[in-house]
Amino acid sequence: MKVLNFGSLNMDMVYQMEHFIRSGETFAATRLDKFPGGKGLNQSIALAKAGACTYHAGSIGADGGLLTETLQAAGVDTRYVRTVEEVTGHAVIQVDRTGENSIILYAGANGTVTSEQIDRVLAGFSAGDYLILQNEINKLDEIMEKAYAAGLKIVLNPSPMNEVIQTLPLDKVSVFMLNEIEGAELAGESEPERILSVLTDKYREAEFVLTLGGKGSIYAKGEQRIRQGIYKVQAVDTTAAGDTFTGYFISTLMQTNEPARALDIAARASALAVSRKGAAPSIPDREEVEQAALPKAEN
Ligand code: RIB
Repeated sequence: MKVLNFGSLNMDMVYQMEHFIRSGETFAATRLDKFPGGKGLNQSIALAKAGACTYHAGSIGADGGLLTETLQAAGVDTRYVRTVEEVTGHAVIQVDRTGENSIILYAGANGTVTSEQIDRVLAGFSAGDYLILQNEINKLDEIMEKAYAAGLKIVLNPSPMNEVIQTLPLDKVSVFMLNEIEGAELAGESEPERILSVLTDKYREAEFVLTLGGKGSIYAKGEQRIRQGIYKVQAVDTTAAGDTFTGYFISTLMQTNEPARALDIAARASALAVSRKGAAPSIPDREEVEQAALPKAEN
């Protein structure tokens, strides 16, 4: 079983700030780092490090060679990453002293997906393979329709949430990976239990993972609920913690079909990611995740 991640590839410019910039303010960053990132790339790296046979499809500009090299170094197959005449997508990220971030995105090459590209990529996959999508590329609706017709299992992480998501054929999604904001937007409710009850009623066959920041996460399918706490670490940079969680969860679910185990491994992996700088470079290897002695946080 293979997993295809049709997703973004970004260069992240990470500025260390005392506080996030306010309207009209000019404020000096104390440090600048450049890291490979993009929700797509980060999730592919987490999927591969967690043991899934991972293929990444997407687009970079002539300046994006480091991104394919980074995917390859993590064991991701990059035959479906093409180079186009656009700049590589990038993100301007502020990280404050508590490790929280705020992100400006520029899609660049990530916004150049074509119908021919979709057909060529999907031809390499068959029924039962997984497709994972985020919301940083164009033509998501067409990718979903065609992948569903080919029998692929669709995982959707509707991040960043915007008006595009409500236009997608969400009834074709097998697994939703949501944070509280995304869950609230889809369900029209704000309380986690209500969010899950609305969504499991609406999409009866789908599986849901709702992440709740410091309060952990909940897996839901129909009436079933599995709760997972977080592991305690010193937060350095939360960038890509959600992507690490998604990649580890899906990879482990594909390998074991045990959501409780997948939630626990994902919580461990994302805790390690939070304790390190950067997006892709912060994603831990499977061995580290299994061996790290991480204390459980009290909720
Ligand atoms: O989820 C983190 C990612 O969001 C960053 O790597 C940045 O590129 C943006 O896509």
